[in-house]
Amino acid sequence: MSYAADSGVCLDRILASTDLSALTKKDAATFTRRLKAHFPRLFEKYTFVYGHQYDCYFHLQKLVELLRDGLKSRKPALKALDSQRLKTPLWYRDEEQVGMACYVDLMGPTLNDLHEKIPYFKALGVTYVHLMPLYDAPKGDSDGGYAVSDYRKVNPSLGTVKDLEKLTAALQKEGINVVLDFVFNHTSDEHAWAKAALSGDKQYQDYYYLFDDRSIPDQYEHTLREIFPQVRRGSFTFNEAMEKWVWTTFNSFQWDLNYSNPEVFNAITSEMLFLANLGCAALRLDALAFIWKEMGTNCENQEKAHVLIQAFNCCLQIVAPAVVFKSEAIVHPDEVLKYIDKDECQLSYNPLLMALLWNSLATRKTRLLTNSMKKSFAISDDCTWVNYVRCHDDIGWTFDDAVASELGINSFDHRYFLNQFYTGRFEGSFANGVPFAENPSNGDCRVCGSLASLCGLEGAIEANDPQAIDEAVKRMLLLYGITFSIGGIPLLYSSDEIAKLNDYSYRLDETKSHDDRWVNRIAVHSEDTALALGTTTPENEAQTASLQVFEGLKQMIAIRKQHAIFGQSKTHILDTDNQHCFAFLRENTEGQKLLVICNFSEHPQSLHRSLLATLKQSASKDLLTDETVDMESSPLELAPYQQMWLQPV
Ligand code: GLC
Ligand code: GLC
Repeated sequence: MSYAADSGVCLDRILASTDLSALTKKDAATFTRRLKAHFPRLFEKYTFVYGHQYDCYFHLQKLVELLRDGLKSRKPALKALDSQRLKTPLWYRDEEQVGMACYVDLMGPTLNDLHEKIPYFKALGVTYVHLMPLYDAPKGDSDGGYAVSDYRKVNPSLGTVKDLEKLTAALQKEGINVVLDFVFNHTSDEHAWAKAALSGDKQYQDYYYLFDDRSIPDQYEHTLREIFPQVRRGSFTFNEAMEKWVWTTFNSFQWDLNYSNPEVFNAITSEMLFLANLGCAALRLDALAFIWKEMGTNCENQEKAHVLIQAFNCCLQIVAPAVVFKSEAIVHPDEVLKYIDKDECQLSYNPLLMALLWNSLATRKTRLLTNSMKKSFAISDDCTWVNYVRCHDDIGWTFDDAVASELGINSFDHRYFLNQFYTGRFEGSFANGVPFAENPSNGDCRVCGSLASLCGLEGAIEANDPQAIDEAVKRMLLLYGITFSIGGIPLLYSSDEIAKLNDYSYRLDETKSHDDRWVNRIAVHSEDTALALGTTTPENEAQTASLQVFEGLKQMIAIRKQHAIFGQSKTHILDTDNQHCFAFLRENTEGQKLLVICNFSEHPQSLHRSLLATLKQSASKDLLTDETVDMESSPLELAPYQQMWLQPV
């Protein structure tokens, strides 16, 4: 029998024994209609993972009840939003969209204080704010909130769930969506499930991966990657209380959930629906690559990880279709692409573009960027990239070794060079970064640092060198300019927009000093926003640079919003005849075009006219300067780090 037939019979039976009387008539009808549409897919996914277990159907029935309860608790305003979004499902491909990720405590410091920052978001043009994880978490080190002790409780130092709902509503009124984290690979060791496991409860011990001795962990570790080798070797932690080894991919206090147990899938779905019902527009799927373990593999990007995410997606379609998923897969580019699908994750971070922008800045060369984007930038029209330059994490050099090798680049040596360059150990480097997660076994490491410090502003200010300051500002605007124009939602990382330098104070805090990512988790104070909004004037070079960056970003965002070409249109990555230049063409179905060309070096560069011929126009206007560019006089000159957004006139 086919899946479709099976699922029909199964759904009839489940519906026959599911009490819908607590739902309004309208909700009951919506629920039944959506189940009919999405259950076949959910059934296929669920039975693919759990079908061999004797109690699979029992859990499937429970899941449907859970979905019913999720719909019941969804507020009328959010249900209205569901209907609206179902009519405009591709809202996230709009040129209007601009995101910002921020820590509540570093910008608020509480949820209630964040209301005052709404004018700041609006001045920049931000339409979505990712509030970094704000759930209840262990005191002291909680991996920046990514060790969640209670998904239904806001960290008391930030406020309450009510405050969060109030802020979400206030932001929405101003046209700003909220994005929340869905941290579902692990919980903290203080979550109620972990506490029950610790007290010896068998049912909850099965929520995690626990082992009596090292034999199975040792077998797994043959093929596992170490994520935080600086805090603990390997991926398992011995727990004295239980006398068991716990699977802890990240920190020792972050316990990986056991998705081979259907009860875990159901329990986490319930938490996910709670978050969706807070009114967020998207959930960021944290560390999604790690959720399925398979002996003999690196336990990343496994087929069943995808199937589980698709199953979560079905649940969301049934209860809260206004909410989309954003994939946080910081893995090999081919694997990143596999999460991107309208039935899996509609949005995805673009770690390849991020890493290669930094690569081009260091090498002043663009061939790796060009060839990699040619191979990996195109995704389904139903989905979109989230393009970013910095985030709260480290920079890992996740480019494709095969693409590098075609260019004669030795990946191992090149990553070594990039690490040296960005940690300032390479002579002549402009960057002030910090090495992160250095692995004593293989010498591997990643890089931390703020946008401004990595772009050279810190060094330039120290050296009191106006030309170097100017170059640093241009680098920042160049990198962000590409995220604004290449296609996708640009995502600013708060504190980048005002070019804040590395914050080294974490080194004095014993809950943070072992984790160098804190160097790029930087507070935005009211003095900063006052400067940006023009209430105060710059008093030194650093502040002048901050304001230049803010104004530059603001201008580019405003231009982006005025032209449909920045929204739904195709991107063609172009070859240039100059190894320091990067170029791409945007084209939409209305026949509009945009040619973007960028110079990644601190020297002027010229480009041949053949590239400009892609616009098939004799003149065009640079949207950034409003100047007309004669497309026939060759060659075209680009100033150091200049970018042009050329539109035919
Ligand atoms: C993601 C987060 C990172 C965190 C990890 C574990 O990669 O971005 O900050 O440490 O997941 O939750
Ligand atoms: C994992 C993730 C990467 C993240 C890191 C946290 O490696 O794949 O995204 O940066 O954890 O440091």
